[in-house]
Amino acid sequence: TVYQNTDIASRKVARRITDLIQKKSKNGEYAILGLATGVTPIGVYKELVRIHKEENISFKNVISFNLDEYYPMKPTSPQSYVSFMKENLFDHIDIDMANVHIPDGTLDIEKIPAFCLEYEKKITELGGLDLQILGIGRTGHIGFNEPGSAPNSGTRLVTLDDLTRRDASRDFGGKENVPTKAITMGIGTIFKAREIILMAWNRKKASIIKKAVEGEISSDVPATYLQLSENVEFVLDQDAASEL
Ligand code: GLP
Repeated sequence: TVYQNTDIASRKVARRITDLIQKKSKNGEYAILGLATGVTPIGVYKELVRIHKEENISFKNVISFNLDEYYPMKPTSPQSYVSFMKENLFDHIDIDMANVHIPDGTLDIEKIPAFCLEYEKKITELGGLDLQILGIGRTGHIGFNEPGSAPNSGTRLVTLDDLTRRDASRDFGGKENVPTKAITMGIGTIFKAREIILMAWNRKKASIIKKAVEGEISSDVPATYLQLSENVEFVLDQDAASEL
């Protein structure tokens, strides 16, 4: 779906999220959301905060799982995805922080596999993700599933692509300060969501969007795997869609 601009697109996505939350709430159920970081979803989070405040919509029945976190990373560090989520969403809504899950960037490396299995298990035991929102990296990564990621991959420790670290260098004051690794949900984890919305804005994303939507399905561009799912929608602004 191509929208005229980013604001309209972000509002539409936010409304779909709150509609889901309200529908679940009516049935006395939790909405299980997969959340993303990066510049792309910030407008959606702003709109969710506005809806919460102005329309009194509660997030008490939301359980969230974030896609990824840098490794190593302290949650209190300004560059952590924990800080990002608090700043852009969690600090401004009434979600119960006990219902928030973000991969733990402080674990000893040998504890990571067990943590990742547990992350997957928690999602499965709750009945799976109702909705996963995604951005896309210029390498074609979703979450931090870089080129080479397998379609059935699960939550795991990965090595970041050089281009991804370059793109993150602004946040860290230089590429040399960007962690070389991250913990990310896998392609397989993302695929199990009942609904997936990938968002992209700006001309900067146009060429990777063309590859993701029209290119050959290949581990070279992990987002191409989304072509295999019936439950995916790409939500784009005109600039991101300009090469399609
Ligand atoms: C990071 C995140 C991804 C995100 C990507 C794009 O690598 N781990 O989940 O999609 O950046 O970021 P942006 O939205 O800032 O372009």
